[in-house]
Amino acid sequence: MRTIEIFDTTLRDGEQSPGVNLSLHEKMEIALQLERLGVNRIEAGFAAASPGDLQSIQEIARRVKNSTIVSLSRSVQSDIDKAWEALKNAESACLHVFLATSPIHRKHKLAMTKEQVIENAVAAVKYGKKYFDLVEFSCEDGSRTELPYLMEVVQAVVDAGARIVNIPDTVGYTTPKEYGHIFRELREHVRGIEDVKLSCHCHDDLGMAVANTLAAIEAGATQVEGTINGIGERAGNASLEEVAMALDTRKDVYQAQTRLKLDEIARTSKLVSRLTGMMVPGNKAIVGANAFAHESGIHQDGVLKEVTTYEIIRPERVGFKSNKLVLGKLSGRHAFKDKLTELGYQLEQEELNNAFKRFKDLCDKKKDVTDDDIIALVDSKLNDIPEMYRLENLQLSYGNNSIPTASVRVQTSRGDVLEEAACGNGSVDSIYKALDRVTNEEVELEDYKIVSITHGRDALGEVYVRLKQGSLIVQGRGISTDVLEASAKAYLSAINKIVALRGDTVEVVV
Ligand code: KIV
Ligand code: ZN
Repeated sequence: MRTIEIFDTTLRDGEQSPGVNLSLHEKMEIALQLERLGVNRIEAGFAAASPGDLQSIQEIARRVKNSTIVSLSRSVQSDIDKAWEALKNAESACLHVFLATSPIHRKHKLAMTKEQVIENAVAAVKYGKKYFDLVEFSCEDGSRTELPYLMEVVQAVVDAGARIVNIPDTVGYTTPKEYGHIFRELREHVRGIEDVKLSCHCHDDLGMAVANTLAAIEAGATQVEGTINGIGERAGNASLEEVAMALDTRKDVYQAQTRLKLDEIARTSKLVSRLTGMMVPGNKAIVGANAFAHESGIHQDGVLKEVTTYEIIRPERVGFKSNKLVLGKLSGRHAFKDKLTELGYQLEQEELNNAFKRFKDLCDKKKDVTDDDIIALVDSKLNDIPEMYRLENLQLSYGNNSIPTASVRVQTSRGDVLEEAACGNGSVDSIYKALDRVTNEEVELEDYKIVSITHGRDALGEVYVRLKQGSLIVQGRGISTDVLEASAKAYLSAINKIVALRGDTVEVVV
């Protein structure tokens, strides 16, 4: 069995998904869960992209001990300096420099000759080696690069000291046969390649990212780059849970394994989906809600007789548990704390007190409180965004033949209490108009989604919104047993993010 190393780029390539904008706290939650999942490397961001990115890489590097933390960097010295600033205190750090190598990129994007590209790539790797022991070089658009030239580039960066060489299929254009061929040729012709990790990085524009990744593994790749739930630029990246489960389920074919704790997959998928607001389609392999559901009578009959008739993976293998009843009205603080520990949370005393209070409030509205309810309850408040506005009261008048009207009362962080009312096209519209008035913000609602956390009429509803104001795009989440209250909370949490990102003080119109 070969061991394939997992390089997770959910927080970098994944965060490049349109509309995804994670706060520092959200990135930290994901990074800690990725560490629990056992990924070898976490690409925490692109340090030179913004001070916020640099800070989150720094913080993640401070907390995460069992995965190497990576920063992306263009092949320029100032970017590499920033990456070092972000990573110098990490237990284990890696610099990831990239430069495009394909003829299309050389001509139209870089305006560089082949020689200039090699010169810049080598200079970047050598400069990076001054700071970092572990340097990865990526040949951006590598799969559309002339193979003999690609081999020259790889040879040059290996000679310059790169210890990982990545061949991205940046635009999701390659096929399994073509991509595998590239890896075989590199293995065969580049001197010293046996001492270097050869990495694949596939995008899903033609729906072949996972197939291409598996072809690269068969052809000798030893590192796989991808994201949880396959999120990322355009159609996304190779989905890591799919790659890991293909290797695990078809060991007979691939003869390769990862060090992932496979039963952490479901939890990681749910966390990424919740924090990014990118829902997992029901039919998504491994982590979709229907991935283990058997609908047809013939299938159900088969599974009841012998589960392997229609099931190639047991749901428990990837961490789907029956959503067993956990706590209720009579559960005390101790049991609640034990449950949080079991679910992987370590809360400060004040956070714990607040979470316990919300749990007790929920028990008044909902008889059976499940693991998923508790995760949603805690995650919804683990946020580093200051609450400029907090919903105090929401009242609605609705009738199928009358105009919906909402009145809201909001408390500001300065202690003011503001009230407004508005009519709208529907209940949610009227709430949002009233909130626009009370906060005096002009925003565009770009997206609105609602999901139920568990089943049943008393299930918690979770609402996601995406708001735009100028060039700022933010997401907000809100949960409640009432979907209209959840809608209001989600909208206000997004407005709080806008105010915080703008960095101004609250303009209150009384
Ligand atoms: O897809 C790509 O080429 C990338 C590189 C920056 C590694 O994400
Ligand atoms: Zn990419």
